[in-house]
Amino acid sequence: MSIQHIESTRLFHLKTKNSSYQMKADSPGTLLHLYYGEAVTDDMSYLVRCTGRPFSGNPHGQDGSYSLDTLPQEYAGSGVGDYRLPAVQVIADNGSRSVNLTYNGFRIIRGRETPADLPYVRGDGREETLEIALRDPVIGLQVQLNYTVFEEEDVIVRSAKITNLSEKTIHLEKAASACIDFLYGRYDMLHFHGRHCMERRAERIHLPNGISSFGSRRGMSSHHSNPFVILCDTECTENAGNCYGLMLMYSGNHLEEAERDQTGSTRVVTGIHPDGFSWQLNPGDSFQTPEAILSFSAAGLNGLSGQYHRLLLKHVIPEKFRGVRCPVLINSWEAAYFDFDAEKILRFARSAKELGMEMLVLDDGWFGHRDDDKSSLGDWTVNEAKLGCSLKALSEQIHALGLRFGLWFEPEMISEDSELYRKHPDWALADPDRKPTQGRNQLVLDMSRPEIVDYLFEAMSAVLDHAQIEYVKWDFNRSVANLYSAGLSAQRQGELGYRFMLGTYRLLDRLLKRYPDLMIEGCAGGGGRFDAGMLFYCPQIWCSDDTDAIERLEIQRGTSYGYPVSAVGSHVSASPNHQTGRAVPLYTRGIVAQSGTFGYELNPEALSDADKEEIRKQIAAYHQYSGLITQGRYYRLNELDSPDEFSAWMFVSEDQSEALVNLVISHIRANGPLPFIKLCGLSPEKAYRLDGTDQVYSGAALMHGGYSFELPFGDYTAMQLHFLETTL
Ligand code: GLA
Repeated sequence: MSIQHIESTRLFHLKTKNSSYQMKADSPGTLLHLYYGEAVTDDMSYLVRCTGRPFSGNPHGQDGSYSLDTLPQEYAGSGVGDYRLPAVQVIADNGSRSVNLTYNGFRIIRGRETPADLPYVRGDGREETLEIALRDPVIGLQVQLNYTVFEEEDVIVRSAKITNLSEKTIHLEKAASACIDFLYGRYDMLHFHGRHCMERRAERIHLPNGISSFGSRRGMSSHHSNPFVILCDTECTENAGNCYGLMLMYSGNHLEEAERDQTGSTRVVTGIHPDGFSWQLNPGDSFQTPEAILSFSAAGLNGLSGQYHRLLLKHVIPEKFRGVRCPVLINSWEAAYFDFDAEKILRFARSAKELGMEMLVLDDGWFGHRDDDKSSLGDWTVNEAKLGCSLKALSEQIHALGLRFGLWFEPEMISEDSELYRKHPDWALADPDRKPTQGRNQLVLDMSRPEIVDYLFEAMSAVLDHAQIEYVKWDFNRSVANLYSAGLSAQRQGELGYRFMLGTYRLLDRLLKRYPDLMIEGCAGGGGRFDAGMLFYCPQIWCSDDTDAIERLEIQRGTSYGYPVSAVGSHVSASPNHQTGRAVPLYTRGIVAQSGTFGYELNPEALSDADKEEIRKQIAAYHQYSGLITQGRYYRLNELDSPDEFSAWMFVSEDQSEALVNLVISHIRANGPLPFIKLCGLSPEKAYRLDGTDQVYSGAALMHGGYSFELPFGDYTAMQLHFLETTL
């Protein structure tokens, strides 16, 4: 049993393989958070001491030692004397903003109930779920806290369902997915910030007193702040120490907050961003928050990452694509941008086939009259005049070459210069009487309106029915503004951000039901929507529009803290690179792209014979190692912010019989120190032979003594080592 309930003490103990999570309803009915960390068997309520604090309110009159302001709670209310970050905020019918939640029963079920309209962590029947009801009888609000325990995966999935049990309307102003109080200790937080072309840069901060917050108000999970944070002990490293992940399964606005308070306790809250959000709960209505995926590891950040990778691969990405290697593709974007016709695309396809590639993806520019980024979004009809043939004919010729065919869409957008806009100008998000803000010359469709989702479903289906298409790249190329819907009443405009995401998820769901074999790669101007919500539909996501292998080291490293390598869209592109102008050896570009979905995004006709030879070798190596890369354990080998002038990471097969180590020099120095690393994840007892040599090392030697490389020469050299188990 992964969920234990002790009736006499009203204690709940959630147990995963290596962690314990405890809470309890105390005698006044507050649901206290007791403990989250390494597995324990005791009742951890001894950790909570009621100590009076001046200026902290006392809900039970004269009992000055009892204060919601100092007690650790599971889901903090607001306005009744807890001055820390709330999990839930409301405005009642009479204008009152107070919420005081107390325990009102529980239920434990095998499996889980899944939300109808949102992505969720998929169960396999082995998981158990605890539902705890909290109520505020004064305003008639119920909060059902859901905890699904994935024991093997060391994961607890939390969400809240908030129901209006009263006869009057309640406005929900904040509804977090999870709130956890850590009573003692000092913590660091890793968050993943960035910008277009530099997503998910890991930054580690020491949590100061007061509030630290990260999030997105861009209508997308964003390049700028990923909906994933890690709280860790200050001494936690990549391979040792306690750390906790909070990953929100949502692709819209989100907020991650941490507050270190007057008593030295730390509260962490994650959920949809309350700015601009409100939800009208009429009598009987419920609101379901997105899920938050929590995980704890005592084995450092690499340990935590491994847990998230396994969970996302086993329980989030569509089942159809689990363990499936993405075909090695050639993408037309950096090869031709908008300048192509079918003849050119077919020439690319022929060259790509000769080099061993397996799929051609036709990127932006095949529809409407789109020859630049100023028109035609929304008009998902093939530009036959530009192509010189139908999409069906093009797809047939590509398939005849033995390649699969993929196509780019940007469904949630509309160009002012489009047939769709001329017909339905009110389908774009826009405030009344205000000219909407453009981004990349385009407006955003109002995905909250069912008729728009219907239109997109029909328009995309018509294309997918017309030609054989195995893969869709689903783009989203601007931040959202003018969040106003012609389809919602004035009182409900605060619901739009959330309803927008529900519309997008609905469209994805409908398309996948109709085309169950279709592989959808997520994309949002690169990695602007790289989150667990999108991974529910898309087994892979284009990681960044920055394809420079050296920049990618940082981007892919940051991404790896939460997300598996097999989800990371990564291509070899031209050198000098189109975003930075940096020249990087083809071998290095291959090594970096190999730690991802692997493909090419360059003009194959412009390659020298030597480059072609190198590409053939890269593709052969990808075939050899892709199982190890996509199914193996991944380890970062440098600490974040280490002074190393190289990046190193490795993969180890589940049975520890094989390992692949990668190292890329990011700054070459004359007469510098030898690049040196300690390997991870091997079996200390096993012997490993360095492939291509007769050198044999024990796992213990490679992990404790490490391995040093020859001093490289030249910019951005990459080195790869393949170790195979052997007998001594
Ligand atoms: C975005 C994507 C790119 C490419 C362009 C096309 O920027 O991230 O890969 O598809 O759009 O306009």
